[in-house]
Formats: sequence, structure tokens, C-alpha cells
Amino acid sequence: MKKRFIIANWKSYKTVPEVHEWLRAMVDAELKNLNLEEKDIIVCPPYLYIPIMRAFIDDHVLPLKLGIQDISQFGEGSYTGAINVKQAGEFVSHAIVGHSERRKYFYETDADVLAKVKTLVENHITPILCISDIKQLEFYLKEDTVLVDQASEIIFVYEPPSAISGGGAFHAETPEIANESAGKISEMIGKQVLTLYGGSVNQDNIASFVTLENIAGGLVGQASLDAQKFMQLIQNS
Ligand code: PGA
Repeated sequence: MKKRFIIANWKSYKTVPEVHEWLRAMVDAELKNLNLEEKDIIVCPPYLYIPIMRAFIDDHVLPLKLGIQDISQFGEGSYTGAINVKQAGEFVSHAIVGHSERRKYFYETDADVLAKVKTLVENHITPILCISDIKQLEFYLKEDTVLVDQASEIIFVYEPPSAISGGGAFHAETPEIANESAGKISEMIGKQVLTLYGGSVNQDNIASFVTLENIAGGLVGQASLDAQKFMQLIQNS
């Protein structure tokens, strides 16, 4: 069986008590007794909860990795509100970049996203790069060679914005189109790359994606917020 990657993207949800409740549920459900040898589970909470989660995961030896939802393209310095790679690297192994919500609401450009990928790779944090559509990837490839040069260090996610459940509409992409688009990403990069699918992934449909040739897992928003649903999703993947 190919290795599976399940990434929870909590976006701007949860409070401290809710974070503890979620983590407790993972302990109670004996997450550490699940056979996760062939699965990487990466949770990306809001910034403020990362240290709390790091301590809890370490204390309880939970088989969870931590990621950050975005990263500054700048290093240390006078950049109000920014978290840099050195700071993130003290707590996390992964970072989501180029999410369509960052591009839409925070006006991130192609150049910003590529600079983030570069600084992450240089600092040994794995970028989880969201690609909204193939055109988007074409723009990235025209602008810089980093995605090709560093392809083996990057987790690519095919995530069409129309499939994201944020607006209340749950319209996951069809597995066939998701698989085809994921395959196209490898084709355009010029080698087989690790690609996941994102957009309305849940415990009921995860298997229909991860069993396909070109998809190795899912980036999960809404369905990762509820600990029970997320556990079920991990088991079904
Ligand atoms: P969703 O979000 O699973 O709630 O659709 C996925 C994402 O935006 O990463």
C-alpha cells in the first residue's frame, strides 16, 4: 500500500478549550494504537495553538505531526504580524502555502508563494503547496524553477476552490477529475511528485480519492475539526 498523507487544516477555527477537547479525544480514542505506520497525519492549527499542541503531542506521544497554515517569506526582522521559518521550525515540520483563501483574502501573489516555498525548503520544513488549477501551476513554472528543482521536498495538493466547503456547499471534485489533475501536476513537473487532493474531503469519500493512482491523501478542512469524524477519516484512508 502506498503511504497516505492526511492533513488537517483548521483554518480560523477553535479556541483553547476546544483544542484540548480535540486532543483529549485523540488520546481517548487511542490514536496511538492505530496502525499508522503507512500514514502521516499532519495537523495545522491556528498559530496561537501550535505550542500548546506541540507540548501535548510530545507528552502523550501521539502519532501526529504539526504544520503551520502559512509562513512569512521574510526572515527575522521588522515584519509586524509575520511568523518566520526559524520560529516555525521550533514547533512544526510542515507548512501550508499558496492556499486559495490566502490568495483571495490576503492577496498573496505567485511570487510570494514561490518565495515561501524556497525559504521553507532551505530550512527543512516541508511545503504543502496548494494548486487551485493547472493554469496556476503553469504560472508558477514560468516564474521560477524552484518547484521542479525541489519537487521531491514538496507535497503538492490539487485543491480547486469550487470544491472547498467553506461556503457551506459540499461539492467535492469527482475522484476521476481529481486523479487526472493530480497526474497532470506530475507531468508538468516532469517527474512523479507526491500529490494529495483537497476540497470537501470527509470520512465517507476519502477512500474514493486515496485509492486512485495519483492521489496519496487529502487536505481536510471542515471534516478535521470534529475529532470523531477525523479519526474515522484516518481509519477509512
Ligand atoms: P474543506 O477545506 O475540507 O473544508 O473543503 C479544505 C481546504 O480548504 O484546505
